[in-house]
Amino acid sequence: MELQGKTAIITGSARGIGEGIALALAKEGASVVINSRKEKDCLETVEKIRALGGTAIAIAADVAKEDQVTALVAETVKHLGRVDILVNNAGIESAPTLLKDISEETWDRVMSVNTKGVFFCCKAVIPQMMAQGKGKIVNISSVAGVRMTFFGGANYTASKYAVMGLTNHLAWELADSHINVNAIAPGAVLTPLAEQNTTPEYREMTTKRLIPLGRWCTSDDIGNATVFLASDRADMITGQILAVDGGILTGFGEDLRPVIRQRMADMQANHP
Ligand SMILES: NC(=O)c1ccc[n+]([C@@H]2O[C@H](COP(=O)([O-])OP(=O)(O)OC[C@H]3O[C@@H](n4cnc5c(N)ncnc54)[C@H](O)[C@@H]3O)[C@@H](O)[C@H]2O)c1
Repeated sequence: MELQGKTAIITGSARGIGEGIALALAKEGASVVINSRKEKDCLETVEKIRALGGTAIAIAADVAKEDQVTALVAETVKHLGRVDILVNNAGIESAPTLLKDISEETWDRVMSVNTKGVFFCCKAVIPQMMAQGKGKIVNISSVAGVRMTFFGGANYTASKYAVMGLTNHLAWELADSHINVNAIAPGAVLTPLAEQNTTPEYREMTTKRLIPLGRWCTSDDIGNATVFLASDRADMITGQILAVDGGILTGFGEDLRPVIRQRMADMQANHP
């Protein structure tokens, strides 16, 4: 058990990737805080973890509201005594729209959860982690925070690039407090919501075009990477982006493989 005795807050963990991360951390012995805007939405995940013998509590907070985030951290310390790990997972997309059609309200909504939420959560846990002498922050960005992908709009891409900037800056700022700050860039993740919102044909097409390892990620894939970055084994890793994307960022999917093999064969024939 890699995380025995540690306490973790995972924002937006009532479902999807956040739930997968919470389960993975709890299986490694961490006490976890399940968070969403409404407490009732968190209870099923809390029960799943308790059924596995883990420790979990639900704390409602909107990450885009500073007073609620401050209360989230205070409640965690009150009930669990400490905060060793913060996973900034809560994030939203707007309906994919061309930039010319994105309203100011939509721009602000995505930024306020995806970027300002990370700022508020980091700001709230840092004094506690400093007092403890150590901490781990893992920001869930996206491959869209590394280069354009077609999964969301320009507002989503900008919000996730901003998370990468925050990660890089904070890693330096907090290094002398022994607080490590890293980011995970998930590729396409097959959450229940993604399964509902996409067709099997779309998933097959995107896999062939984009994912050399041949399948969409699962929440467990993201959970496993988070466990590593949150553990003492990652003590000398900070300011890094770990893409958990099946190879999307290489830029080449299965579709291109026969063309590239043919090209290599042609080149070898021309260079005996
Ligand atoms: N699903 C993917 O393919 C994918 C790919 C790359 C990155 N991501 C990122 O992973 C994270 C999780 O994505 P998901 O697909 O599991 O999303 P999801 O919508 O299934 O779950 C997000 C959770 O966050 C909660 N949430 C939303 N706004 C909140 C707020 N203001 N305060 C607190 N909680 C809030 C939601 O209620 C929900 O429980 C997001 O940051 C997303 O951008 C997802």
